[in-house]
Amino acid sequence: MYQIYALILSILLLSACSLQNKPGLYELTDIQSIAFGSCNKQDLDQSFWTTIQAKNPDLWIWLGDNIYADTEDMSAMQAKYQQQKTNPHYQRFIEDIPITGIWDDHDYGQNDGNHTFAFKEESKQHFLDFLDIAKDNPVNLHPGIYRSETFGLPPKQIKIIHLDTRTFQDPLEKAPQSAEKNYVTHENGQLLGTTQWQWLTDELTNSQANINIITSSLQVIAEDHRYEMWSNFPSQREQLFNLVVSSGANNPLFMSGDRHLSEISELVWKGQKLIDITSSGLTHSFSGNEEYNQHRVGNLITTESFSMLTIDWSEQFIDLQQYDMESNLLNSHLIGLK
Ligand SMILES: [Fe+2]
Repeated sequence: MYQIYALILSILLLSACSLQNKPGLYELTDIQSIAFGSCNKQDLDQSFWTTIQAKNPDLWIWLGDNIYADTEDMSAMQAKYQQQKTNPHYQRFIEDIPITGIWDDHDYGQNDGNHTFAFKEESKQHFLDFLDIAKDNPVNLHPGIYRSETFGLPPKQIKIIHLDTRTFQDPLEKAPQSAEKNYVTHENGQLLGTTQWQWLTDELTNSQANINIITSSLQVIAEDHRYEMWSNFPSQREQLFNLVVSSGANNPLFMSGDRHLSEISELVWKGQKLIDITSSGLTHSFSGNEEYNQHRVGNLITTESFSMLTIDWSEQFIDLQQYDMESNLLNSHLIGLK
């Protein structure tokens, strides 16, 4: 008799647990809202996760600088990832919300890092472990962290194409301090590398998704500031815009981070409107009040912030919203779906 009670009890407990479990990343189907952000110092206050969790997004996307490792010591990097992963606020968040994302320079391991970083393979393993990416994921079959994820079915299908802007990046030459930019423009320099370009071409050209999100740690559209951005590699930026437009991929949308500020940039390329929503940073922000960006639409946010993308599938639009950590709405933008 006791064994029957024990069996019933364990079945009840197991079903209660499975009810509480979040869906796995690949079990997500009908996505209506995505939260995203970047630039997170693991030793600063992490209570903002509760604010983001309260928005109840279907998915969280890390846009890079997810921790500040800045080290060639891979056990030190692992310890910093562990500090983030075991933070109680973050733990509660990831128990509830599926996560994905990309890296930038500080979690790659080297400030403004590029392909010359000697520990990129080891660093990649720590990044994949941090996101709990399975060992059989195709990302394990090639150098770099570029990969894609597709959720749901048409007419509500979303594809997220994650770019790796570090592993294959050619080094930039530092400009003199008196110059307008920190780096000399690298006219023919590589940002993605040949293999990633071929992969990206296939991903966009073959996409049946109704919304195609392209994540890039570096800002894609903004070009007037002095820091890292696609514009430091003008031929790569032009190639990206040409590819996105010529591929015919439905409703492309860039997401970027890195900058310690949040804003939405817009540009028309060969007759098609392209949008880059930059969301940064989670624990620290830009010290100035203004930065010129000829492509900005709406407000510049210079306080700690995160962003939300909410899709109204029936009315066919996306609502982009940017919030501070008290959940005050600081910027919003509507995009009609085509
Ligand atoms: Fe960065």
